[in-house]
Amino acid sequence: MALSASDLELLTKFERGLDPQHPERSTIPARILGYGEISTVFEIDADGLRDFAFKRLPLFYNANEVEKYTTVHAEYNRLLENEIGIRLPSHDCAIVSNSTGRPIVYIIQKKLPAAAIGNRTIHTLAHDQILTLVKRVLHELNKVWEFNRRQTRAQVGIDGQISNWVIDSNDESLLYVDTSTPLFRIDQVEQLDTELFLRSAPSFLVWILRWLFLKDVVNRYYDFRLVAVDLVANFYKEQKPELIPDVIQVVNDFFSSLNIQSITEKQVNDYYKEDALIWSLYFNMRRVDRFLHTRILRKEYPYILPGKIKR
Ligand SMILES: Nc1ncnc2c1ncn2[C@@H]1O[C@H](COP(=O)(O)OP(=O)(O)O)[C@@H](O)[C@H]1O
Ligand SMILES: [Mg+2]
Repeated sequence: MALSASDLELLTKFERGLDPQHPERSTIPARILGYGEISTVFEIDADGLRDFAFKRLPLFYNANEVEKYTTVHAEYNRLLENEIGIRLPSHDCAIVSNSTGRPIVYIIQKKLPAAAIGNRTIHTLAHDQILTLVKRVLHELNKVWEFNRRQTRAQVGIDGQISNWVIDSNDESLLYVDTSTPLFRIDQVEQLDTELFLRSAPSFLVWILRWLFLKDVVNRYYDFRLVAVDLVANFYKEQKPELIPDVIQVVNDFFSSLNIQSITEKQVNDYYKEDALIWSLYFNMRRVDRFLHTRILRKEYPYILPGKIKR
């Protein structure tokens, strides 16, 4: 998949006209499909662009950083698709420069129907179908750890959250969408520059985030049990706590067949409380930082922040 030259021009126009504080008021109208830790996902209302989801990464200071990131991103996609056997929507990358000359990376994917995305489907599927979905997500995730066991040099991490999986309407198979954080290690060396995660953090927090969380947050994606705990905890976040005991049962049945130690409801609870606390603190600090930038210092604030997140 590749954007045509005219579509790329349109995307540049979109970027130049984007109001990060009010995306809906941009020159070319856009709607936000999702917020991430480092990206914002848009659909853009313009001929030629409507079929795509655009993941905007405003993190880079220069072409060298962009080059490194896009290389790692392409290799992560290749590993998932070709070596591990996880399906991705068709994808591409585009680099445009914004009005101040900074390079902005857009990961472009075929846009998938909102109703088929995991965190939506768990509100529409029947109880048994939800448990089947969880089982199938675990099956997909296990491909990563099977790959990791086969390897001596490469180790791949993945974010198993329910919102990262989309049910393909053609054959019910699962597609994985969350490739913007391409985590894999070669000979123990993280290939992604994880300092990029800290770019959008307020400068007054960077040192403490680096010191307290960065390693833990990154390591979590390489541990099947922790990825599963995170997946289960999503059911709190998605306001479906009543499903948690059954979802844990599904995870533990799956794990027992693999000889992986089971997880407990307490672990999920503790994790969720801690995770929710960390992220709400973090987002509040980012709002403070945005306020400082835009109102007090009158500087550009390039990041797009979600409103209050219900947890
Ligand atoms: N290809 C896509 N088509 C439609 N919606 C998407 C697509 N990719 C992502 N989204 C939406 O945006 C959300 C966040 O995207 P994701 O790639 O998981 O990034 P992150 O979690 O880092 O923000 C997804 O949960 C989904 O709702
Ligand atoms: Mg995601």
